[in-house]
Amino acid sequence: MTNVVVIGSQWGDEGKGKIVDWLSERADIVVRFQGGHNAGHTLVIDGTSYKLSLLPSGVVRPGKMAVIGNGVVIDPHALIAEIEKLAGQGVTITPDNLRIADNATLILSLHRELDGIREDAAVSSNSGIKIGTTRRGIGPAYEDKVGRRAIRVMDLADPETLSAKVDRLLAHHNALRRGLGESEISHAKIMDELTSVADRVLPFRDTVWLMLDKERRRGARILFEGAQGSLLDIDHGTYPFVTSSNTVAGQAAAGSGMGPGSLGYVLGITKAYTTRVGEGPFPTELHDGIGQFLGERGHEFGTVTGRKRRCGWFDAALVRQSVATNGITGIALTKLDVLDGLDELKICVGYRLDGQEIDHLPASQGQQARVEPIYVTLEGWKESTVGARKWADLPAQAIKYVRQVEELIGAPVALLSTSPERDDTILVTDPFED
Ligand code: IMP
Repeated sequence: MTNVVVIGSQWGDEGKGKIVDWLSERADIVVRFQGGHNAGHTLVIDGTSYKLSLLPSGVVRPGKMAVIGNGVVIDPHALIAEIEKLAGQGVTITPDNLRIADNATLILSLHRELDGIREDAAVSSNSGIKIGTTRRGIGPAYEDKVGRRAIRVMDLADPETLSAKVDRLLAHHNALRRGLGESEISHAKIMDELTSVADRVLPFRDTVWLMLDKERRRGARILFEGAQGSLLDIDHGTYPFVTSSNTVAGQAAAGSGMGPGSLGYVLGITKAYTTRVGEGPFPTELHDGIGQFLGERGHEFGTVTGRKRRCGWFDAALVRQSVATNGITGIALTKLDVLDGLDELKICVGYRLDGQEIDHLPASQGQQARVEPIYVTLEGWKESTVGARKWADLPAQAIKYVRQVEELIGAPVALLSTSPERDDTILVTDPFED
């Protein structure tokens, strides 16, 4: 028995929701450790659909403890709205089933505004870089965390310290806003914003590292629920077209306060093709009818922003990199059925860069934009793989595709998902029992 870390091995949207839900049923505690309400997934349980952005999946299952770790950035208004929405669906959230790290950073309205101002300015003036963010204030909040001027959860309990911290925060933000030609923000506005939510947020606060340590010693099963994907990692992703947190598995330790030795099995959720929302390099992107086919068949629209996702062939070179940077033990391969009916399938095995062949995506932004994929081509299959629950249900060519993926990325398939339904899964290894 072990703990499990679930992360996305591509650019997010790999289908983590279904797998995390399936695993959370086996877990005692579900912990989020990075990101914020820029994430989004839909859980379908007994026919009811729950949309979560900030709360860990465990909250919708009775008897589970959900934890928001210190590595997460929390918009308190988004938190309250999500709790209320779930309450409307009959899910009661109390400190008995949700704990929030008292040292987690808060997202304020000024962060959300700044995120939008920067994105708009990058488009209209062609200055700066348009990242295509979710405009939720994630990046600006992490900037303040690293700049040591953030407001954290526990500050809500101490109005005097809070007031001084807001002064310091505004000295920075108002200077920034003046430079951008924006109006200044008053101290009273931010204080109101924070004091109005304090009573709703503070009951959930906890010394999360301590609580998790006790639970670990007691033998609780802990599931760490990653958000976004490894290629959006602030260090290992396609910088600067990335999110503002470390999305790789190691962050499960730093973002929750547990030691890395307690993390256990690392499950990399991996889509059978590739998608990306927002800007940035995407070597295997398809601008043709096949790209459109993948988008339509795969319902590739963003859960949070509704944006159309860019689609392309499976990039084994990129996932091989994710296997290394996350220490992936096994993958959950999702959406194989989207490839049903295609005459042939391509898998990227490396790149050509300035006349040379390379086996990984270089870190340089210029080189990332110039690489050309090197493909192997496989025969497709005509049969449907939707709903397959054992290997024998899959056509031979589909099995060949999966084996080729495993070999190229250097990690085995632990689970294979063949539809959004929970039970439409081929289970090779139960990560909690591995
Ligand atoms: P931010 O996280 O809102 O700052 O956005 C930065 C980049 O990460 C943009 O390209 C977003 O589209 C992308 N992103 C953020 N959250 C997700 C997600 O949950 N799935 C996929 N892409 C995401």
